[in-house]
Amino acid sequence: MRNNNRQWILKKRPVGNIDLSDLELIESDIPEPEEGEALLRNVYLSLDPTNRIWMSDMDQYMPPVALGEIMRGGVVGKIIKSHTSDLVEGSFVSSFTCGWQDYAVVKPNEVSLLPQNSSLPLTAYMSAAGLTGFTAYFGLLDITNPKKDETVVISTAAGAVGSIAGQIAKIKGCRVVGITGTEEKCRWLSQDLKFDGTINYKKQNVLEELKKQCPEGIDVYFDNTGGAILDAVLTLINLNARISLCGLISIYNNKKPTPGPFMYQNILMKRVKVEGFIVSDFMDQFPKALEDLTQWILEGKIQYKVDVQNGLEHALKALNKLFTGENTGKLILQVSDE
Ligand SMILES: NC(=O)c1ccc[n+]([C@@H]2O[C@H](COP(=O)([O-])OP(=O)(O)OC[C@H]3O[C@@H](n4cnc5c(N)ncnc54)[C@H](OP(=O)(O)O)[C@@H]3O)[C@@H](O)[C@H]2O)c1
Repeated sequence: MRNNNRQWILKKRPVGNIDLSDLELIESDIPEPEEGEALLRNVYLSLDPTNRIWMSDMDQYMPPVALGEIMRGGVVGKIIKSHTSDLVEGSFVSSFTCGWQDYAVVKPNEVSLLPQNSSLPLTAYMSAAGLTGFTAYFGLLDITNPKKDETVVISTAAGAVGSIAGQIAKIKGCRVVGITGTEEKCRWLSQDLKFDGTINYKKQNVLEELKKQCPEGIDVYFDNTGGAILDAVLTLINLNARISLCGLISIYNNKKPTPGPFMYQNILMKRVKVEGFIVSDFMDQFPKALEDLTQWILEGKIQYKVDVQNGLEHALKALNKLFTGENTGKLILQVSDE
């Protein structure tokens, strides 16, 4: 156990790709909880594409991280000292207020208790049975309502959210085509996750491959990228198709505002429903999603990968893997032992 606290502070807003000098790691004393509070030791830090959004001051879905503030991030941590009967020492919780640091003082209403003695590993609550899984679950089921035998296309299909969304579409009896950036990821999708088709967008022409692999057109698109992949999908979109706009990773590092989709016209011609969402919109339904996802994981219907990097000091270097495609599955940083 460390005898001091380390905190990543946002020093300047990234321009383009995140630079290692945009944040600074500082040291301070471990904070002391007061009456009604507890001390959380950060065990796993979730590294997410949205960290890049929060570092910027673009118009976004929650306030950006202010300059000089601790970097925001979801964590799973352990309560190691408590002055409240609501948080028992030794229990594991998830928290959104701890951020990129070793320790944080938390109040009971700032954390969610994780299922104790669960048959799932702790990292599952950061991936398939956590916000990642919930994003896939609501983004696919609520926004697009996929029907049996429909063709569903997923971008960043081997990533944390995409891989779960594709498997939920398979559970619903859909034909699923996944788009990703390496041959190894394509193999995992087709051999292990039983996707019906895969496209390596870095090696193949996405539009030509979609034409071959989606002969009946595209009924549902789970969009994690925007950009050129979205345009290829829009070109082949079916009448009354649904597009779940989950993320736009292809533009997060752009220095200038990005022009809209070239094939925007097809949203009109094909009466397509396009809906953006943020997973927190569905917070009141998280228990139902957790129940379904846990059951599917235990039944072997959903597989997931976690990519666990080590050491708070490596947070920024690890985060950049999301933008180079070097992560496989949910990118997590282990900050301390469980
Ligand atoms: N709406 C919400 O509430 C919500 C919640 C969570 C996540 N999201 C969004 O969901 C998407 C996926 O997030 P995640 O956490 O699951 O990350 P992830 O897919 O595990 O990792 C990001 C992946 O994006 C791909 N990528 C990077 N740059 C790209 C580019 N320029 N063009 C195409 N693909 C690129 C890379 O995979 P390849 O090898 O395939 O290139 C990389 O591995 C992101 O857009 C994120 O913002 C939304």
